[in-house]
Amino acid sequence: MTETRLTPQTPGEIEDDAKVLYNAVVESPRAQGPGKRILIRDDGSLCGPFDAWLRTPGIGVHLERVGMALREETVMDPAVREIAVLTVARAWNVDFEFQVHAMVAKNVGVPEHAIEAIARGDQPILERGDLAAAHQLARELVYNRRISDLTFDTAKTVLGETATIEVVTHVGFYQLVSGVLTTFDPPEPSVEVPAPGLSHSHRVPIDLYEAASTTRAVRRLREDPVTDEQLVRILKMASFGPSGGNRQPWRVIVVRDPAKKARMGELYAPLWDKYASLGRKALESLPEDKAAPTERALQAGDHLSSNFAKVPVVCVFVFDPNLLHITDQGRDRPSVVGGASIYPAVQNFLLGCRAEGLGSTLTTLLCEEENEIRKLLDIPDPWYPCAFLPVGYAVGQGHGPLSRRSVEKLADLDQFGSAFLNKG
Ligand SMILES: Cc1cc2nc3c(=O)[nH]c(=O)nc-3n(C[C@H](O)[C@H](O)[C@H](O)COP(=O)(O)O)c2cc1C
Repeated sequence: MTETRLTPQTPGEIEDDAKVLYNAVVESPRAQGPGKRILIRDDGSLCGPFDAWLRTPGIGVHLERVGMALREETVMDPAVREIAVLTVARAWNVDFEFQVHAMVAKNVGVPEHAIEAIARGDQPILERGDLAAAHQLARELVYNRRISDLTFDTAKTVLGETATIEVVTHVGFYQLVSGVLTTFDPPEPSVEVPAPGLSHSHRVPIDLYEAASTTRAVRRLREDPVTDEQLVRILKMASFGPSGGNRQPWRVIVVRDPAKKARMGELYAPLWDKYASLGRKALESLPEDKAAPTERALQAGDHLSSNFAKVPVVCVFVFDPNLLHITDQGRDRPSVVGGASIYPAVQNFLLGCRAEGLGSTLTTLLCEEENEIRKLLDIPDPWYPCAFLPVGYAVGQGHGPLSRRSVEKLADLDQFGSAFLNKG
């Protein structure tokens, strides 16, 4: 976005019926101390959600009072309150809200290491039971949109009934504020607000269903670096994948060497071109609206193919066939069970990328050049490559909703062909 969606109103531009709200913000206790310059810019316009609410004063004046009541007329400890806000701000990636509340949180006793952990998207280590309970409550509300019995019972015991209701209400209020800030993205205050570790972190905890239903093949990747710390977390995710007898018959070679990536790109390009031209041929017989999504994916594949060398890192999964327990060998059809001890780890790897805010794609075309790859990466007997994962930040949005067959078409009940889901 190049321009702000709402031009902040200076005091002379504010409509009469919005003046009550403006004055309430300017005269509020938190606008009296050093917090003033975070709430009010040098030209008198309001920061945060207030400038938007000046245009709906009938609602805005009440929302300002709710915010005030949540601070001034509640029994919850201020640190409990602030940890809940930080959790919401992180979930919504609203940096301004996070930064402002990180300062408040520090002043009211939220440990700095916990603020930094939340900024990174990590689970904070909290010795205070009330802070841990409030964080968990807020976390489940924003990410899972439901509260487990354990979390509720803990909150009720540790915080008490009243503070539990307050925390839940507070989370709701700050989701509303986050929505306003995300939509209108108001300009920063005149004063600089310190950012605790936020600028380095893209990691976002994400609901499992949301992650599974939006982890796309991301083929347009930026050159921006991917850190070893990120890769370690992603590889740890991969390590949790199941394998026959828990033998984990795979290893990963993390390829950062530009010359090796360039060679892989050289080998990949003709394989991709062949695959893509077959794909494009198949599209010729389809109507344009049906062909369009595949054509877009093929164009993204063209981009990956021509930019393989520039991808920040390519992770190559290799496997030892001696460690596979293949229960469908020797049939007159392709055997598939061996791969089932490797590719769950690869899928976990992709989900790990998703959690890090990174994109990747499972690619296997280079398996056709197995000998060249083994030479290039010094892969000894009896190891073979089986998956190549370019990893990087997406150009544009990257992940998003997937197009997949419905459960109606995929699942049967008791016998093949008898629909599991009763459509009647
Ligand atoms: C076994 C396997 C091999 C794949 N090989 C490649 C490949 O070599 N190159 C590529 O660009 N995508 C490859 N893909 C990615 C698929 O094309 C992609 O997952 C599929 O089109 C669905 O895309 P979506 O997840 O974005 O909806 C492969 C996927 C699988 C499961």
